[in-house]
Amino acid sequence: MTNTANPENGSSVHWISIVGARPQFVKLAPFCRAIEAHNESGAAPRIAHKVIHTGQHYDPAIAGLFFQQMKIPEPDYNLAVGSGSHATQLARMLERLEPVLLSEQADWVVVYGDTNSTLAGALVAARLHLPLAHVEAGCRSSDMRMPEEQTRIVTDHLSRLLLAPSQSAVANLHREGIAGEQDPRNRRATMVGDIMFDALLNSLPAAENKAIELLPRLGLESRKYYLLTLHRAENTNSAERLRQILDAVESLDLPVLFPVHPRTKNVLENAGIALNGNLRPVSPLGFFEMLAAEKHACKILTDSGGVQKEAFYLGVPCVTLRDRTEWPETVELRANRIAGTDPARIREAIHSDWGETVTTSMPYGDGRASQKIVNELLSEDGLYS
Ligand code: UD1
Repeated sequence: MTNTANPENGSSVHWISIVGARPQFVKLAPFCRAIEAHNESGAAPRIAHKVIHTGQHYDPAIAGLFFQQMKIPEPDYNLAVGSGSHATQLARMLERLEPVLLSEQADWVVVYGDTNSTLAGALVAARLHLPLAHVEAGCRSSDMRMPEEQTRIVTDHLSRLLLAPSQSAVANLHREGIAGEQDPRNRRATMVGDIMFDALLNSLPAAENKAIELLPRLGLESRKYYLLTLHRAENTNSAERLRQILDAVESLDLPVLFPVHPRTKNVLENAGIALNGNLRPVSPLGFFEMLAAEKHACKILTDSGGVQKEAFYLGVPCVTLRDRTEWPETVELRANRIAGTDPARIREAIHSDWGETVTTSMPYGDGRASQKIVNELLSEDGLYS
């Protein structure tokens, strides 16, 4: 199918975004802003944009609050899939997405990042021969045990337009035969930059306001605490691994602010792991509160991809509690250290001399990825070959 847009007669194009988990709400927000800006400018064609929320994340603290803070329009569809094993969650998504995508017949289906919601959206769009665009295409950790890595690879291979956050992500795609000169399916990859950088820049003023009340409320002082986040299946599926990480951080020299993801909370409760020492557990934070907590931390310890990049943008040293990263530039520029989960390695990464961060290079674009994505989608007719 092709776009029905014709700038001459004031026609419109119809796009549909599929989101479901917290980092996708962050990516969706600037995209919605960029579409609004395009429509307000009066430029043709008009973009009609609908949002499907799979319901993968449903707690008000990690779903509703993000929509509200980032002024994302109410989703047009909520598939309410809820929690379950990956197979259950994916099966529910596939079943509930199909009739919606069939009835909507969008000119573009847009999926984001690497979650189960991304994978389900990509599969249904491909089966229905709907043109698929992937935001944050080309990231690789080279760890095929990660559900996220499996999703990235499948989604990239099914996509028509690959919107990459960095040149290294574009190179990863070319290495897999996607969108290079020899690509028999004529897919296109382009480096637009990281849309999460747009989200961060848009939200920093609100985050700064939050910091004024947040830090005293939590009993913390700027630069005198660490920030910890942990939720990856590889770290939380094993209570032993989780315990190891927590052992390493609870004896640190400053308080460790720890917003606890629901998955991690379940594992801690089931395994009877207590949070001791300098750990300061709190409920998941809203996006503005999280940015405020990141900006004022002395160091960030995390297994999240998004938080690694936010630390980099904010100039806060980051220790990654995994064996690999999809964001290698942050390590090359000496802003991020890969520490894995061995307590001695974690402490060494935190305490040894960090030297100077290289700040002359910005590998993830200029904070205007959302606008570039809109332009790229408008310039392609989305033909699925
Ligand atoms: C998902 C993504 C991960 C992303 C993360 C961001 C997949 C495979 N993983 O992981 O890539 O980094 O989101 O947070 O898609 N739960 C609640 N309330 C909620 C949502 C979840 O209590 O609103 C609990 C449930 O017990 C659930 C568990 O958290 O079983 C895990 O949630 P799930 O959506 O399966 O994956 P995440 O770990 O959040």
